[in-house]
Amino acid sequence: MEDPTLDAVAQVTHKKLQGKVAIVTGGASGIGEATARKFALHGARAVVIADVQDDKGQNVAASIGGPDRSTYIHCDVTDEEQVRGLVESTVRIYGRLDIMFSNAGIGSASQQTVLDFDLASYDKLMAVNVRGMAACVKHAARAMVEGRVRGSIVCTASISASMGGSIFTDYTMSKHAVLGLMRSASVQLGAHGVRVNSVSPGPVATPLLCKLFKVEAEELEKMLESQMGLKAPVAGKMMSVESVADCVVFLASDEAEFVTGHNLVVDGGFKT
Ligand SMILES: NC(=O)c1ccc[n+]([C@@H]2O[C@H](COP(=O)([O-])OP(=O)(O)OC[C@H]3O[C@@H](n4cnc5c(N)ncnc54)[C@H](O)[C@@H]3O)[C@@H](O)[C@H]2O)c1
Repeated sequence: MEDPTLDAVAQVTHKKLQGKVAIVTGGASGIGEATARKFALHGARAVVIADVQDDKGQNVAASIGGPDRSTYIHCDVTDEEQVRGLVESTVRIYGRLDIMFSNAGIGSASQQTVLDFDLASYDKLMAVNVRGMAACVKHAARAMVEGRVRGSIVCTASISASMGGSIFTDYTMSKHAVLGLMRSASVQLGAHGVRVNSVSPGPVATPLLCKLFKVEAEELEKMLESQMGLKAPVAGKMMSVESVADCVVFLASDEAEFVTGHNLVVDGGFKT
């Protein structure tokens, strides 16, 4: 079934990703799903949705278009072989890889203050948010270098990547690590014409935050706005997944040809 939002294709007059082949990890939900749709709206030739939520991922791919346009591939990013397979399949099916949006991530399982650190939960979170991110950057970079593609890799970090927090220590640590990975990779891959950047969203209503704060989707936005006073001052409203997706489209596009090693904060001036 075609997604009605794709009718908006006609309204996107300047398509920034014409002909590009992209992978979106964590593409079944939230920021990844919104970005996969934006990639398609901006003329990407193919968008591969990689996730562990098979039904949701398949629905997103089907709504973007048929197999020529989008495919779902099951990929647990903690398993390097699955990541290698994801990249290899993408290149086999679509001929090349231009964009890797390495976005899959999870939140802390509990408050994770230093005094009560559950290191088993820490290991699980690091396996997705840091090890998985490294595997995606590694295999995407290899495919781009081998294919002589002047590609773009965008990692999802967070505003937690640049500040300490009163809770969720493991999550904060993991997102600091994403910046280290992104900056090192950008230095190492520049000579190959591969750009590496990150996007750092402020709070945005997605299933990840629902799980973190143990609330339903309907309650989440109200809670973020009222109880926690989490507002983006610039826009005077809560940020949406689309706002983040627009920034990823920019970093992925040739418009950002001279942008590499950059952490693009998308938080509307958010302050805790
Ligand atoms: N929502 C926010 O406020 C916020 C703020 C800053 C950063 N982020 C980051 O944004 C990214 C996307 O999160 P979201 O908010 O859209 O949440 P989400 O839960 O809606 O999406 C995350 C997706 O990642 C997938 N995923 C989880 N573990 C995986 C694994 N091992 N392998 C493959 N896929 C896996 C999930 O199935 C899910 O579809 C994450 O990296 C998150 O840390 C979110």
